[in-house]
Amino acid sequence: MSNVEYSKGLEGVIAAESRICKVDGENGKLYYEGYSIGDLVEHCTFEEVTYLLLYGKLPNEGEFVSFQTHMRASRDIGEPIRRMIQEFPNDSHPMELLQSVVAYLSGYVEHKIEHSAYCNCRDTLHQVVQLTTVVAAYERYKSGHSYVRPSKSLSHGANFLYMLSGHEPGELEAKIMDDCLILHAEHGFNASTFTARVVASTISTCYSAISAAIGALFGSLHGGANEKVMEMVDDIGQPGQAEAWVNKALEEKRKIMGMGHRVYKAKDPRAVIMEDYLYRLSEKKSDFRYYQILKEVERTFRERMEEKGKPIYPNVDFFSGAVYRLLEIPTRLFTPIFAMARAPGWLAHVLEQRQDNRLYRPKALYVGERDKTVVPMSKR
Ligand SMILES: CC(C)(COP(=O)(O)OP(=O)(O)OC[C@H]1O[C@@H](n2cnc3c(N)ncnc32)[C@H](O)[C@@H]1OP(=O)(O)O)[C@@H](O)C(=O)NCCC(=O)NCCS
Repeated sequence: MSNVEYSKGLEGVIAAESRICKVDGENGKLYYEGYSIGDLVEHCTFEEVTYLLLYGKLPNEGEFVSFQTHMRASRDIGEPIRRMIQEFPNDSHPMELLQSVVAYLSGYVEHKIEHSAYCNCRDTLHQVVQLTTVVAAYERYKSGHSYVRPSKSLSHGANFLYMLSGHEPGELEAKIMDDCLILHAEHGFNASTFTARVVASTISTCYSAISAAIGALFGSLHGGANEKVMEMVDDIGQPGQAEAWVNKALEEKRKIMGMGHRVYKAKDPRAVIMEDYLYRLSEKKSDFRYYQILKEVERTFRERMEEKGKPIYPNVDFFSGAVYRLLEIPTRLFTPIFAMARAPGWLAHVLEQRQDNRLYRPKALYVGERDKTVVPMSKR
């Protein structure tokens, strides 16, 4: 007899110890390896945060230079991968491409040891680095343009914008893109990270773990809420119309996307930072339409919820879609960006899982029948 209680969706179940990330939902705080997300965004680049997640400490200058050189040298993708992107069915989603590409990339890992089950994720940074190139190349090809080779002199975020548009982004845009990647790099034991750890626990490769995690992120209950937020913003159209739109949606018992979170019971700290970025980009472009609509949605929604005694706040997705729009990123790339940003977090969990591995093997509560007799097919 087991004394472990049944918990649908494993809600509330603690399945492992982890030192990578702390989501403090009550106080609206997020820490990677003990550093607050605000501190990381202010002082570090995405490449530094990748190092932090993979090694559990911030790099000193020498460590960082060699790590960054390795990451940047791995940015370009070879002809077979480019062909795969071009030939991938046009009506498929880029997340399907990403999932397949990671499995395909593993066939191009040069070093023998990297093919073994215990490949060293720190050395096989293709998943992190090349996912970004794949997303940009996908957009270039699908919009009828040619591949833009990555730059080695730009930050990870700036290089992504460069590969998308073919021209170097401004300082503000570069900083915001890189920070958006930091904000999405890790978030505890969510569905995709748990998926990566389950795969890692079978002693499979990190490529299999990442590919499976991308599959989990593809689902609309996980990635993708920011796309829905922008559908809402487009539907509202103009500031001044948001209040009526939200009231009607709530009357019809519809969810307001980008609001609420399973863990955060205060404003998501990433949403606080994203809101600031949206403001700064709006200011630079002298276009506050998205910002004003979203602030009006937030105010109306929170007022209605407070009246019902439900304090519900914006999550990271509430402002991120509008930030990406102002960075001129097409909506279909929103979830792929989440995937390329989360790759270091997934890898960190794969490494942690391997340090003290135990195969994940929960049980189901059997509610089926027993001892049935097979009736011959002719008599069924
Ligand atoms: C994220 C989410 C699934 C969390 O759901 P949850 O854990 O059930 O949230 P709570 O327990 O705090 O919900 C409390 C109540 O507020 C309501 N609520 C929560 N978020 C809401 C939203 N965005 N719009 C309308 N009502 C909402 C719930 O329906 C629930 O109502 P009830 O008490 O009448 O059943 C939910 O907030 C949601 O669907 N948000 C929109 C989608 C989104 O932005 N997802 C991205 C998450 S990062």
